Amino acid sequence: MERSHVTTSTASLRDIDKANMLGAIAQLPAHLRDGFARASDARTLVERTWPRESHAGSATPRTLVVCGMGGSGVGADLLPAVFDTNAPVVAVKGYDLPAWVSDEDRVVCVSYSGNTAETLRCFEVAMQRSVVAAVITSGGKLGELARERDLPVVEIPGGLQPRAAVGLLFGALAGIAEALNVVDRDVASIIEDAASGAQLIIDSNADLDGGTEPPALMYARDLKDSTIVVCGASESVAVAHRWKAQLNENSKVPAFASSYPELDHNELVGWTRARETGGRWSLIELVPPNVDAALMARMDITRELIGDALQASLRFEPLSATRAGALFELLVLGDYISAYLALASGIDPSPVERIESLKQRLAGR
Ligand code: PA5
Repeated sequence: MERSHVTTSTASLRDIDKANMLGAIAQLPAHLRDGFARASDARTLVERTWPRESHAGSATPRTLVVCGMGGSGVGADLLPAVFDTNAPVVAVKGYDLPAWVSDEDRVVCVSYSGNTAETLRCFEVAMQRSVVAAVITSGGKLGELARERDLPVVEIPGGLQPRAAVGLLFGALAGIAEALNVVDRDVASIIEDAASGAQLIIDSNADLDGGTEPPALMYARDLKDSTIVVCGASESVAVAHRWKAQLNENSKVPAFASSYPELDHNELVGWTRARETGGRWSLIELVPPNVDAALMARMDITRELIGDALQASLRFEPLSATRAGALFELLVLGDYISAYLALASGIDPSPVERIESLKQRLAGR
């Protein structure tokens, strides 16, 4: 792969990272364990929200509905990608619950700040239908409302950007899913697998003082000043959406998520005139765990067909033998690349002023 030769001193990169996003990324394995332990502490309370005797002895709700926006909604996508679930997990990223959600289902509301309008609205609706299993939050209005009603609250530490709390939020959600029997096999060891996969990437990318640049920083330089399309397949689609959001929020660049094999039935043609849009485009492919030969062949041919349209074309294949390890390997790599892309462009990855300003303007209406 061609690399640009622009270099910025690593010390100055660290100076730009004022709120220490790189430090937060390196905490991910510890966050996974901490989030899972916090949910385990609330286990008895969560179990009580699903009284089997009122549901014909059924051990598991019909569906687990997870409401959360942005960084707080990621766990809803990751849960069914990482675990074999006993019930469908439905992600709600909006103001309302689907009409079919009833007493046979259970709802978890996730908001890091506890003050997100859409999630608060879903919580109110879930309360009215008596289907709340738990909330996951660092506090805010959501924590307050849930406590007033004696509902289980998994409280996670504040002070991070919500997207940097992904380990805490995901670990906590996995713990609640276990208490509801939505996941039941080796949950603690799967959390460990995820932590090990994350650690693999942290070990080779966290050190900015080691003499050579971390690989994620070199990849970030390849992507500079381009619009990025991140493609996953099967379980890695959830991670592609996480990358897209991290590139948007950390790097402040336009990025989009897509998925194989569907993209070969439409986007493949759309790339034909990409250059004519006047922009620069890059493609990132996230190879799923246990990828099959047909999918790899498809990815190879697609890359050949659209190569002319691209500034950079990067493909990442995880090394971990476990599904959870592989997915968290890919996830953390995206966290580093998006943070380094910001830093290499002289931008602090942490602040998301536009989101703050939008929330303030909406609150004033
Ligand atoms: O990463 C971010 O800051 C956003 O994507 C937030 O997660 C999103 O706006 C929702 O806020 P919260 O996570 O506090 O519910």
